[in-house]
Amino acid sequence: MKPRGIFITFEGMDGSGKTTQMHRLAERLRSMGRTILETAEPGGPPIAQKIRRILLDSANQELSPATEILLYFASRAQNVDQWIGPALARGEIVLSDRFTDSSLVYQGVGRGLGIDAVGELERIACRGLKPDLTILVDVDAEASLARAWARNEAQPHCETRMDDQAIEFHRKVYQAYHALAAAEPERVKLVNGRAAMDAIEREVWSIVSAHV
Ligand code: TYD
Repeated sequence: MKPRGIFITFEGMDGSGKTTQMHRLAERLRSMGRTILETAEPGGPPIAQKIRRILLDSANQELSPATEILLYFASRAQNVDQWIGPALARGEIVLSDRFTDSSLVYQGVGRGLGIDAVGELERIACRGLKPDLTILVDVDAEASLARAWARNEAQPHCETRMDDQAIEFHRKVYQAYHALAAAEPERVKLVNGRAAMDAIEREVWSIVSAHV
């Protein structure tokens, strides 16, 4: 069997604090001497970053749902081929801020493109690569939007296309994340995103430490 690292993803609504938690986990694992690849989707290697700019540009309001999902998977395919796959083959721990589950809940359910469409694109882009563990940092739609708006006011020029979406869309996404956690309880672990940062960090570590 070829050596394989561990693939851990962080999921959650916009403004859930998952990015901070992922960085904290990365630092902890590095301090233990582990080699970590950190990536965030949409994005990763330079080509995927260029795709990210198209996706999150608030000027691109007319981006169609089909174009949007194809671009998320185009970004992901490049990330899998160029960064994630090779790092796992080297036996490293890969941490990704969002992965296919985001496409499932935002495009498949939120935009109504369907779970089957996501599965087909996943087959092409990821070729069977699934996370070993997914940390779902749980905040509800209202808290997510409140945090995202606060962040936008602090940085008015940041990428905001998704944050402009209505509360209804975010509620659908929230429900889809919960359905996913219920369907795959072994892989998808819920942590309470409304707790204090340090408490969330401890909860994340209690889950991850069993896997690394
Ligand atoms: P980002 O700026 O990375 O925000 P966050 O901190 O919330 O991750 O923006 C990513 C946005 O892209 C976010 O609103 C969710 C959305 N998204 C999808 O709709 N589908 C996807 O497959 C991915 C990876 C992200």
